Amino acid sequence: MTEQRTSLHGHWSSKIAFILAVAGSAVGLGNIWRFPYMAGENGGGAFVLVYLACVVVVGLPIMMSEILIGRRGRRNPVATMRLLGAEETGTTAWRWVGILGVVTGFLILSFYSVIAGWAVAYIFEGGSGIFIGAGPETVNSVFAGLISDPVTTGIWHSVFMAITVFVVALGVEAGLERAVRVLMPALILLLIALMVYGMVVGEFMDGFKFLFKPDFSKLTGEAVLLALGQAFFTLSVGMGAIMAYGAYLPNEESIVRTSIAVVLADTGIAILAALVIFSITFQFGVDETSGPGLVFVSLPLAFGQMTGGVFVAVSFFVLLTFAAWTSAISLMEPAVTYFIEQLKFSRVGAALTVGVIIWGLGFLTVMSFGPWADLMWRGRTFFDWLDFLTNNILLPVGGFAIVVFAGWFMAKNSTADEIDPEAGLIYRLWRTSARYVVPIAIFVVLLNATGLLESIRAYLMP
Ligand code: PHE
Repeated sequence: MTEQRTSLHGHWSSKIAFILAVAGSAVGLGNIWRFPYMAGENGGGAFVLVYLACVVVVGLPIMMSEILIGRRGRRNPVATMRLLGAEETGTTAWRWVGILGVVTGFLILSFYSVIAGWAVAYIFEGGSGIFIGAGPETVNSVFAGLISDPVTTGIWHSVFMAITVFVVALGVEAGLERAVRVLMPALILLLIALMVYGMVVGEFMDGFKFLFKPDFSKLTGEAVLLALGQAFFTLSVGMGAIMAYGAYLPNEESIVRTSIAVVLADTGIAILAALVIFSITFQFGVDETSGPGLVFVSLPLAFGQMTGGVFVAVSFFVLLTFAAWTSAISLMEPAVTYFIEQLKFSRVGAALTVGVIIWGLGFLTVMSFGPWADLMWRGRTFFDWLDFLTNNILLPVGGFAIVVFAGWFMAKNSTADEIDPEAGLIYRLWRTSARYVVPIAIFVVLLNATGLLESIRAYLMP
């Protein structure tokens, strides 16, 4: 056993507190907003299968790597990568992995907060009763009206950033845990209730088949990359968010069990949400390829038909906002701890500074859905590019570097120490994944999607 460091900011109060924090980070818009529309746009079953494989084969080992690195370094991701890099390899260049993560977090949160702002707006739309008995035209026009209005979405984006900065300024541990403990089960229960509703009145079986009957003819190289990106995004891995939380994990807690619990919960919630949304999508004939608006146009149709629909709508969007909030907090954490520890900011000062930069960046996404909606470059809007660059390129590249560091550059003693000192089967599985399976998988998927693999093949086998 090497000498063990203590975190600069104390520890989670209990094991369950850590699991709740990581689950709070993982479960968010990625599960309820992004997963369903990505599955819808990419043909369902085959995409879902690849996504599930990516979660288990790529996401889980990276999550374990992030927690182990975070706990060993006990600092913000930049300082942790610098410290462990120096200890294990004699170079501080690994800090760039941390810096990449901080930048990725800024970029992701800038659009994340805008979408979360839509959810906040929908608490009030739902509460106003506008969806009662509404048909597709009304529901579509409410959504189109909202996103095309940069003032309204800008205000809700600002509100969401303000509540996020507020919690971060007060410190991560405070309050978060109690809220996740109550609201996460509430979200799951509501989704289950909606699924039952979908079974009774919706087209549940159509939704089920769409999600689980793979049609591999729909699977392009790009779809595989999108599934990989979705796995990273939904698990919060690849940018140091989990690493930052790992810094507070007590030494005796099991990294393996925590990671498995979080991955199961996160995946379960995504599947549940997708089942709910597709039962309704097919019931009302909503176009399943309608993209980022899917949740916001399909669910209100169902809320409008059910008894107590106003209450259900408000509860749903409150819980969605909350889930987004706990994820947003974790997106800020690497940057904020970096500003505090390295640049000697106060917590409040760091939260405000980081928050204001991200808030400003967010207006580019606000505009991208509004006045700039037709502004495209190579068929993509600004938001499309930002989303593509962060989730499908930066997170996989960050995850690649993290896993290669843990698998190839950290001594076996160091990683076994954190995961399983006995170096049993699980440890060996993790290490094989970290050294071979994960890096190769990421590499191949990235090359394949960019067409490079095809060029190489053509070159070698003309
Ligand atoms: N996992 C979060 C979600 O699914 C988003 C997130 C990504 C949070 C990366 C932190 C880091 O909504």
